[in-house]
Amino acid sequence: MRGGMSLTGVELGREDLGDLAQALAADGMPADDLAGPDKRFFAFDDRERGRIGFGGFEVHGGDGLLRSVVTVQGMRGRGYGRAMVAWLVREAASRGVRRLYLLTTDAAGFFGRYGFTAADRHAVPPAIARTEQFTTLCPASAVCMVRELS
Ligand SMILES: CC(C)(COP(=O)(O)OP(=O)(O)OC[C@H]1O[C@@H](n2cnc3c(N)ncnc32)[C@H](O)[C@@H]1OP(=O)(O)O)[C@@H](O)C(=O)NCCC(=O)NCCS
Repeated sequence: MRGGMSLTGVELGREDLGDLAQALAADGMPADDLAGPDKRFFAFDDRERGRIGFGGFEVHGGDGLLRSVVTVQGMRGRGYGRAMVAWLVREAASRGVRRLYLLTTDAAGFFGRYGFTAADRHAVPPAIARTEQFTTLCPASAVCMVRELS
């Protein structure tokens, strides 16, 4: 039932961000900018396997930044990443996001399967361009992608 898997995210409180930071650091992903009023992060659990991943987004009006999507090592290739992205996209849309951006170094092929297309990093809305992911944390070689949410 891999294709039909659904997961529900549980929002992380400030005190839980250490778990997320650890998972991100294990993959060399930015973890220095997790606090902030516009940022929301979620943990995802599988009833049988326990914690399988994390993900989140920043909301800047109608524009959002999908970020910190990570499947716990050892749990990859089972459809969890796809299920997390599906849930995060719905959740971002429910919070008013109409265009969801992201930066990725290794997973453009993954996000490309789920409606994200390459975008010009230098043409994103100012609020997205000002995020730490864009200004300092993600290398210039990272691919920028966007998906219109309906
Ligand atoms: C990218 C990531 C979240 C994918 O998670 P996952 O749980 O393995 O993903 P899924 O099992 O749902 O994979 C769905 C499909 O995408 C494919 N896929 C997975 N990672 C991919 C990648 N990096 N590039 C291209 N395709 C990828 C899978 O092979 C699978 O294809 P299939 O359905 O034909 O078998 C995971 O590899 C990860 O945590 N990577 C490190 C963190 C990262 O790079 N995050 C993204 C930047 S925010």
